Amino acid sequence: MFTRPALPEDFLIGTATASYQVEGAANEEGRTSCIWDDFAKVPGAVYEMQDGSVAADQYHRYKEDIELMAKLGFGAYRFSVSWPRILPHGGTQVNRKGIEYYRNLCKKLHKHNMKACCTIYHWDMPSEIQAKGGWANRQTAYDLAYLAEILFMELGDLVDMWITINEAMCITVLGYLLGIHAPGIKDEDQFRKSVHHVNLAHGLIVKEYRKTGLSAPIGITHNLETPRPASCDKKDQIAADHHRAIRSGLYMDPIFRKRYPEYVTDELKWSFPIEKDDMQIISQPIDFLGINYYSEHAVQWSDTAPFNVTMAPRWEEKTSGIGWAITPHGLLRLLKWTSAYTGGKLPIYITENGAACDDKPVIEKADDGSETIRIHDNQRIRYLSDHLNICKEAIRECVPLKGYFCWSFIDNYEWTHGYTKRFGIVYCDYETQRRIPKDSAYFLRDVMAGYGD
Ligand code: FCB
Repeated sequence: MFTRPALPEDFLIGTATASYQVEGAANEEGRTSCIWDDFAKVPGAVYEMQDGSVAADQYHRYKEDIELMAKLGFGAYRFSVSWPRILPHGGTQVNRKGIEYYRNLCKKLHKHNMKACCTIYHWDMPSEIQAKGGWANRQTAYDLAYLAEILFMELGDLVDMWITINEAMCITVLGYLLGIHAPGIKDEDQFRKSVHHVNLAHGLIVKEYRKTGLSAPIGITHNLETPRPASCDKKDQIAADHHRAIRSGLYMDPIFRKRYPEYVTDELKWSFPIEKDDMQIISQPIDFLGINYYSEHAVQWSDTAPFNVTMAPRWEEKTSGIGWAITPHGLLRLLKWTSAYTGGKLPIYITENGAACDDKPVIEKADDGSETIRIHDNQRIRYLSDHLNICKEAIRECVPLKGYFCWSFIDNYEWTHGYTKRFGIVYCDYETQRRIPKDSAYFLRDVMAGYGD
């Protein structure tokens, strides 16, 4: 039996997506290319060179999608804005069609009593901005702040929650250090620059926002990692600290401590291209912190590995679609760590949590002979149920957790994996673009309808 957690009345439950992963319509109504369109063309970078040109076609189907969200009972939708749809070629000229699309999307959400939660940057940078150096170039931070300024002006009356940037760690570590995400760069110097410029962009956006007088909360979303050391050995604990400094501290310390982690500045002797008021700008107060959580690592010390960290084996069951260990207990540790780190008062939202499973549609016949397609994604139900139970526990332990967004509303383009990994609670038949709610969608419907005990 699954436990069905009862959550506080005002606990916000929504689903999340990102523009590049769901919208499609890549060449329509003025949108120009982004770095993921380009990266998909690099042989070997993305599964079968698949790209987001059609994706789940949400650009044409947002009404249907929002109606389904409403029917299931969700209170919010987290979406992101495609930068080159608003500012083609990364220029300064606003594409009215793009603005109109997001205004209509927000209005439709409001019509169905859902909150519009808008992420300003979820990785689809215009190709032209990348050509000038992307995040390794300081100017990019100002360019993104310019996009934000436009969005505050054009969508400010409709957006209920703003997220400046999604997962600075993935943008920089995967994109500039390991080279496995767009733009595919492997260069420590560019990596360090990109870290600082992404942090700066966040600060500039918040600064811009405070000038507008808008009152919706603004925050940032990080995929924080606080791994467990594989033993009580002091060295394994140091390895865990190193991992946390690189994966979380590089992005959290500038905001909350106005500095970079000591491990990187004092031990690794890294320098960052910090200019006069940068740390002041980056560390401006935010209204909430978003956390994306999928799994917790176990780490151990290595004399030779980068940052002295290697991954240790884990014992937990893995998700059937992508093989990530299912570690709800790690979410509790992370939430408690984050709450203590931020002082216990700052509202926290889980802005992504979910599982890619090996979903198999089956045709079922009812007594009257009619046929329906069903997806019995029991592993995902267990995953969501266990993580929601942890939310309940965290709240009991005084973590100021205010809401939860499931990743994802619908199956979509999973970056380098193309369309092979399905994270949706709604199945997307990419041939027909038909949407089929999986059992997990009905599970969340029941949680939201109050069947929590
Ligand atoms: C996160 C990303 C999101 C999605 C999930 C599975 O790192 O923010 O776009 O791909 O992973």
